[in-house]
Parts: sequence; C-alpha cells; structure tokens
Amino acid sequence: MGCFFGVIGHPIRHSLSPWIHEHFLNMTKKNGIYRAIDIPGQELSRTLETLKKIGIDGFNITVPHKENVIKYLDELDPLAEKMGAVNTVVCQNGKWIGYNTDGKGYIRSLNSQYPDVFEDKTNKNVLILGAGGAARGIYFALIDEGFARVDVANRTMERARQLQSDQISTQILALQDAQERLDEYDLIIQTTKTGMHPNVDEQVIGITGLKESSIVSDIVYNPIETAFLQNAKRAGARIHYGHGMLLYQAAFAFELWTGIHVDPESLMDPLEDKLKGGF
Ligand code: ATR
Repeated sequence: MGCFFGVIGHPIRHSLSPWIHEHFLNMTKKNGIYRAIDIPGQELSRTLETLKKIGIDGFNITVPHKENVIKYLDELDPLAEKMGAVNTVVCQNGKWIGYNTDGKGYIRSLNSQYPDVFEDKTNKNVLILGAGGAARGIYFALIDEGFARVDVANRTMERARQLQSDQISTQILALQDAQERLDEYDLIIQTTKTGMHPNVDEQVIGITGLKESSIVSDIVYNPIETAFLQNAKRAGARIHYGHGMLLYQAAFAFELWTGIHVDPESLMDPLEDKLKGGF
C-alpha cells in the first residue's frame, strides 16, 4: 500500500507543499500521495482524530495550527520544543512525533549556496530582522548549528526579548539601530512579511554600509526578488532567496517520513517559474 502524507492549515488553497512533495515522491519512486487538508481552527481536534484513524503516515502543519497541534502529539523533538512550534509530524505505529524543519531547512538552503558561512561559525555575526514564528525557527536553528552571535532587531522590541536564548550572545535592537550597524554583520536575515506581494515596494529597513562579502537573505519568496534583496544586490551583497528554505524544509520533512534523502536543487528553477507565473 502507498503512503499517505499531507499538509494541514487554513487557508490551504495556495500551499506549494503538494507540488513539492509530489515531485519528491516521483523523484524517489516512492508510492504515495500528498494532499492539502483545509482545517479551520475549531475543527482541528476532530480532523486529527480522523487522520489518526485512517493511519496517515506523516503531515506538515502550517498557519494557524503550528502551536496548537502540539497538545495532540505523543513526543516532541527538543528543537521543536524550544521553538514552541511544529511544522512536521511523523506518525509511527500510532505514535505522533513533532518536529520543526523550518529553521533547519533555512540552514540547509543557505549552506547549499554559501558553504563558506559555515566555516569559522563562532566568529560570524548574524542579524535576524523580525521576531515572529519564522524568526524563532531560524534563531534556534542557528544556535543549534553553532553560531555564537545572533542579534535580533524587531519593530516591537519586547517581542524580540522573549525570543532571546541565554545559550549565546544576543543583542536586541530597534530596527533603526540595526540599520545603522549593518557593517557588523556577516549574515542578515529578513524574516518579516514586509515586501511580500502585494506590498512589493516595502522593506523593513534600508540597506547602507554593508560589510564586505556579507550575505543578505530574505525568507519572503513572493516575489522571489524583494525590494530588500534588490537593494542589497545593488549595495554589493551576496543574496539568498526565500524559496530555497521552502524547498529544504520540505526535503527535511520528507526525509523524516521516508528515511530517503532528497536533493531539492533540481526543483529550484521549476519552483521559480511557478512563483513567477503567480502559482
Ligand atoms: P511569522 O510567523 O510569519 O514570522 P508573525 O509571527 O506574525 O509571522 O511575525 C511577523 C513579524 O514581522 C514580526 O516580527 C513583526 O513585528 P512585530 O513583532 O513588531 O509585530 C514583523 N512585521 C510585520 N509587519 C511589519 C512591518 N510593516 N514593519 C516591520 N516589521 C513588521
């Protein structure tokens, strides 16, 4: 019998996960299906019970269920526990185990393009712009990866303070301060929704005075090249697009479910075309 995977969320119509995972199933010649399952908030408990009964093999979780799903799980991976959010559930012999592959997906995606960032990590300075769910995932994955200084700048500084880990050195900054200190950072990661379609002219901070050979990254993938990245490119930065994280978090989830390693690089261009076509 084939495997049954899916993604739960609300709304779920525009999710790119079925497209990505069906490619992975084909690439690995694994017999199975992956479906988008729309679950409004109040129906979460009932639908999860149904999924358990029919023996789903694994599923992804997107907005608004990433936190709420935790109470239905039997086990939680330590990284997901730190993040307080789950995006992947592995179902094994009736036991549900929660993981978060968003941050690790980001790291893998960055590593595939710029492996040099991962050399001499303890001397690299990283700045995260934003302190929401996405920032949280990336922040803890960077710590897990061995980065020693990760600063966070957010519009609401109090929210950034809540994210702060005592494991490493983290300064909490106002956005304006961050903008004035960009020359301190080797890697700058934009995690807010600013610049996302339809607000394509917005950017969270201006880009001036970058450190030489620094990397500027934006997790927004619609559009692929945000105003923030366009300006970073003009300022001479090496840039990293957001759709890589989307592919690699999916690859990580697929590996957890099937034990099969997939290399999503071959999907980078087709996904770019799909995004440019308005998916
Ligand atoms: P996600 O889970 O996608 O990260 P979120 O948890 O709603 O989404 O977090 C959104 C992030 O974008 C927050 O850091 C938010 O800043 P606040 O904490 O101050 O709300 C940031 N954000 C959203 N709109 C913004 C804007 N116009 N300018 C600056 N930051 C913005």
